[in-house]
Amino acid sequence: AGASQPYRTAYHFQPPKNWMNDPNGKVPLSDKFLYHFSRWPMYHKGVYHLFYQYNPYAVVWGNISWAHSVSYNLIDWMHLDNAINPTESYDINGCFSGSATIFPGVEKPVILYTGNNFENHQVQNLAVPKNMSDPLLREWVKSDRNPVMAPVNGMNPMMTSVNDIKPDMYRDPTTASVPNLFYTAVIIGSQINGMELLFFIEVKILLAGPGVGILFICQPKQECGSVLIFTLQLRYDYGMFYASKTFYDCDKKRRILWGWVTEADSKSDDIKKGWSGIQSIPRTVLLDKKGKHQINGHGAAILYRSKDFVSWTRSRNPLYLSTKTGMWECPDFYPVSSRRRIGLHSSFNDRKTKHVLKASFSDHDYYVIGNYDSKTDRYSVDVDFMDTIRQLRYDYGMFYASKTFYDCDKKRRILWGWVTEADSKSDDIKKGWSGIQSIPRTVLLDKTGKQLVQYPIKELEKLRASEVSLHNKEIKGGTVLEISGLTASQADIEVSFQLPNLEDRVELMDKKSVDPQQLCSQKNSSVKGVLGPFGLLALTSKDLTEQTAIFFRIFKGHDKYVVLMCSDQSRSSLKRDVDKKIFGAFLDVDPSQRISLRTLIDHSMLESFGGEGKACITARVHPELAIENKSHLYAFNYGTESITISSLRAWSMKKAQMYRALAEKAAD
Ligand code: FRU
Repeated sequence: AGASQPYRTAYHFQPPKNWMNDPNGKVPLSDKFLYHFSRWPMYHKGVYHLFYQYNPYAVVWGNISWAHSVSYNLIDWMHLDNAINPTESYDINGCFSGSATIFPGVEKPVILYTGNNFENHQVQNLAVPKNMSDPLLREWVKSDRNPVMAPVNGMNPMMTSVNDIKPDMYRDPTTASVPNLFYTAVIIGSQINGMELLFFIEVKILLAGPGVGILFICQPKQECGSVLIFTLQLRYDYGMFYASKTFYDCDKKRRILWGWVTEADSKSDDIKKGWSGIQSIPRTVLLDKKGKHQINGHGAAILYRSKDFVSWTRSRNPLYLSTKTGMWECPDFYPVSSRRRIGLHSSFNDRKTKHVLKASFSDHDYYVIGNYDSKTDRYSVDVDFMDTIRQLRYDYGMFYASKTFYDCDKKRRILWGWVTEADSKSDDIKKGWSGIQSIPRTVLLDKTGKQLVQYPIKELEKLRASEVSLHNKEIKGGTVLEISGLTASQADIEVSFQLPNLEDRVELMDKKSVDPQQLCSQKNSSVKGVLGPFGLLALTSKDLTEQTAIFFRIFKGHDKYVVLMCSDQSRSSLKRDVDKKIFGAFLDVDPSQRISLRTLIDHSMLESFGGEGKACITARVHPELAIENKSHLYAFNYGTESITISSLRAWSMKKAQMYRALAEKAAD
């Protein structure tokens, strides 16, 4: 980040310019892909490849291609030329998300991605490295069998009869692996009956809610096999139409629907016009002749298999159905260990293994935890999507379209996600870029087995410089304490708070306050309490005019204490054209023990991990005053009770190394 680029990150992944969204395949190449890079400044065992959704020509979404970067440590990166560009009729309107995996047997990496074709229908395509002896795998060739999957009239004759997929809602294949897949593929794959499946889905649609997601599994016998998840969604309207309602017109025996259509112009224009909002034309609603386009759908995960990544067979039974969700984007499916604090290879499964299914919808990445039986392909979840008040999300702030991969080298599962901008489009155009990738996080199942925990990968610590620390420091109610001696706009902070005896001194939790984000907005960082708000003020101007508070507040709930974690952006910037939404999550920790917080500050990026990673909140802030060396860091306590910082360690962070491989190319 420089003076003219105060919001560019120093150690979060960004391309040099333009638009970026979803992380796609991340292939941790195994030792078999051990290469020495003569021009690479570091040498390490494996090489990580990151592909991501990228617009090479502009700062806004469009011309979507697969950009490609490589790293030895997931922190320093070299940017290469795009791996895949929209060039063919089957992907001319965009090379959308997908994933990369190692093709078992031949140990060759393959990419499966969604092509948005000439008629904006989505199809699945295959690409392979052009030259396996190129250590950087710079060039990729598309298969001449593309598209390998299509919503209707695909390569697979079964698909013609199972045209229950909307052609523009069929994307984001995700590779993963499933045990006994070879066995499963042979036995069940050959018994697929498309019409039965269709019937099954219809019945459910009649019963249930919005959206259908589809999960596909492909062949491989071993390592790095594949699960592909596609999505399909039924909506009343694919444009602007919201908060609608139907009623029954008994006179004319018809059901009538209408919805609110909001404005596309600015608030100030609305004020000029003097009005805002239109109702749609009343529409009659009927069930489609084929019984498929009932106005509500539901989420489902259906398996596909292949032995060669080219011919695909759709499985008879969906892996999972959810009646609670809309369209799924970028789903993910992987095992987690309930016994050991290590990641698991995607094909691992036993009685102590749980499986996580993640889906991206409604601007967030939600997950469920369950048991997967690879013999029957049944996946039963402990708690369904959206079933409890405490919805399980990877991150309660800005974090979307994420993906995990298994890093066999370090035996860990790594997650990262796309973090979008909070400023305006015109600001993005000024900056010349849009989109950041989160810090790669290791993902584990929590001891309770009820949720995941995430933490920044260890490698990040190599960027730590000049440590500042505090121990057993009391912070009286209503005070702030500056943490000086570090670069407050580019830092890593680990802090833990010890609370006084809790009895009788805690605010009661309003029974109605069940939505943590709402609660954080009502009781934001300026609302004084008893135990809390206390935490950090990041990216803060000297006079505290601009401040972003990452804080906790303790309540007494029905039968136990409730810890609320918030990230309050409402005073983060004097700028007006910035989204300053407040984020919040409940943190499942015991407040009589220490409460920990780790916050990564990277210019416009704030990534916070509460309770050792039990709740994560990522926020984007665009301060006007608190930039670069005018940025300060404080600890604060606006509760009436004193609290103690039992320990605080903070580091200025060095810049990660980001190279462009242009010189490499010229040298070729
Ligand atoms: C998610 C997403 C994917 C799609 C991609 C296109 O952010 O909408 O569903 O494949 O982005 O860039």
